[in-house]
Amino acid sequence: MNNTIAQTISDSQIGQFNELAHKFNQFGLNLLVFDAQRRCVLQADAGKFQSDAARIAELIGQTSAADTENASAAWLSETLLICPVKVNQSVVAVMVVDTGSQSHEKTSQEKIYLACMVEDFNKNMATAQQVPRQIEKFSNELSRAYEEIVLLYNLSTNMQVTQSSASYLQMACDQLTQLVQVEGIAIFVEREIDGHKQIGLSAGSGVMAIDPVRADILQMYLAEELHAGKDALIDSTQDGPLKYQWPETVHNIIAVPLGNAEKMSGCLVATNALDKPDFDTTDIKLFNSVANQCMVFIENNRLFDELKELFIGCLRALTNSIDAKDQYTRGHSERVAFISRWIAEHLGRVRPVSEKLIHHVYLAGLLHDIGKIGIGEEVLRKNGRLTDAEYSVIQSHPRIGASILSGIHQMEDIVPGVLGHHERMDGKGYPQGLKGDEISLIARIVSLADAFDAMTSKRVYRNAMNIQKALDIIEDGIGTQFDEEIVRVFLDSDVQKLWHIIQDGFIENWDFSNIDEYGTQAVGELIR
Ligand SMILES: [Fe+2]
Repeated sequence: MNNTIAQTISDSQIGQFNELAHKFNQFGLNLLVFDAQRRCVLQADAGKFQSDAARIAELIGQTSAADTENASAAWLSETLLICPVKVNQSVVAVMVVDTGSQSHEKTSQEKIYLACMVEDFNKNMATAQQVPRQIEKFSNELSRAYEEIVLLYNLSTNMQVTQSSASYLQMACDQLTQLVQVEGIAIFVEREIDGHKQIGLSAGSGVMAIDPVRADILQMYLAEELHAGKDALIDSTQDGPLKYQWPETVHNIIAVPLGNAEKMSGCLVATNALDKPDFDTTDIKLFNSVANQCMVFIENNRLFDELKELFIGCLRALTNSIDAKDQYTRGHSERVAFISRWIAEHLGRVRPVSEKLIHHVYLAGLLHDIGKIGIGEEVLRKNGRLTDAEYSVIQSHPRIGASILSGIHQMEDIVPGVLGHHERMDGKGYPQGLKGDEISLIARIVSLADAFDAMTSKRVYRNAMNIQKALDIIEDGIGTQFDEEIVRVFLDSDVQKLWHIIQDGFIENWDFSNIDEYGTQAVGELIR
């Protein structure tokens, strides 16, 4: 005869109580279950006598809390065996076995046996309660581990040296904030500015109370922690006052190094965990993994920058050595590179011109006369009219230049610019006598840039030409020497400004970026 009212106890628990009740009922014993408010949630009578649930609830209420805290069975009276039921370390119900009048006939051994039965059941139920929780915990850990692996996979597969450090580090921050709930996250990286190391904010999101000045101090604290054998700096108000001094909005903080205690290039910092009171060892592992990936990227990026600088440095050394053969053409290659890039950028305003082409044009301009390395100084520096033989020697420089560069496979797109920079639209140029569109776009651009610089620079046989006169000659050369579209674009640009930039030796007060960067960007395009 069951009278079940499920209230605070789950259906599965009620089911388990019913099974136990069935066993007790077979021995003529009644089972009652009361919730934390002493309401009867199950009354299973064997049919031999009627339990007084209200009176039993009253008796339980009179029992001291200590009697129900230790979850062990105890005889409340001669006829009532009670046992508290614990879930998550707190008593949520009380089981009561009512033996009725039969208790008088029960020996003390039988009473002990009954108590053991109830306790065993209680323990089994507690264990059964833990299993789903353990499964849930394990499942959460597994899911977090999976997300961490995905994050690290994304960070490693997106590691392209051609990407800027700022965008990679920002991606790392964004991905990390999908896994950890924090108020603010930031990556600070050390940079060398004017020979001094300075720490700066490279990426981040949310509200970050740590500014670059504080980040400098934070790195000192972090180094202390690392030297003390820790893997990270963790400071929190959770277990007492903060160990270090932070802005007052910081309640907890985690910081891991980019690099190690001896060679720290920056740090990854997060403040104020939102979904838990403090950062923990799981966060330390995750943050360190992300910081390591960032460090690998920064190091690769640095090596790539060095490679680019080495490459452009070699190219400039080569062109400078050619220019040095003739004092009147000093700086000519750098200027032609700059003018060529100027034209290509302005051409991009009237038709599609890729960034890649602009870089190629710059390098073709820089290297256009590289073939002069094979021409004797007596011809290059000759003060007077060249003989036909000498002129044909000079005319060989585009071929020599193209031949030198064709040995470097990364230069294959530059070669046509070098080979064709003395071709003319009317086919009267050299070395191949190409006409119109047969001449590569790069060569047509470099040809104009070369002519403009040659006319406006002082030469061994004449003074620098007036800029307007040079522009008139260029306009007259449309269709014969020069490509019309390129000349129009050039004449429509602010040539006076261009000329001033060149004359000032590329001083940076003309609203354009550092000339050295043009070179490293351009060779970066070749190496990628
Ligand atoms: Fe040339």
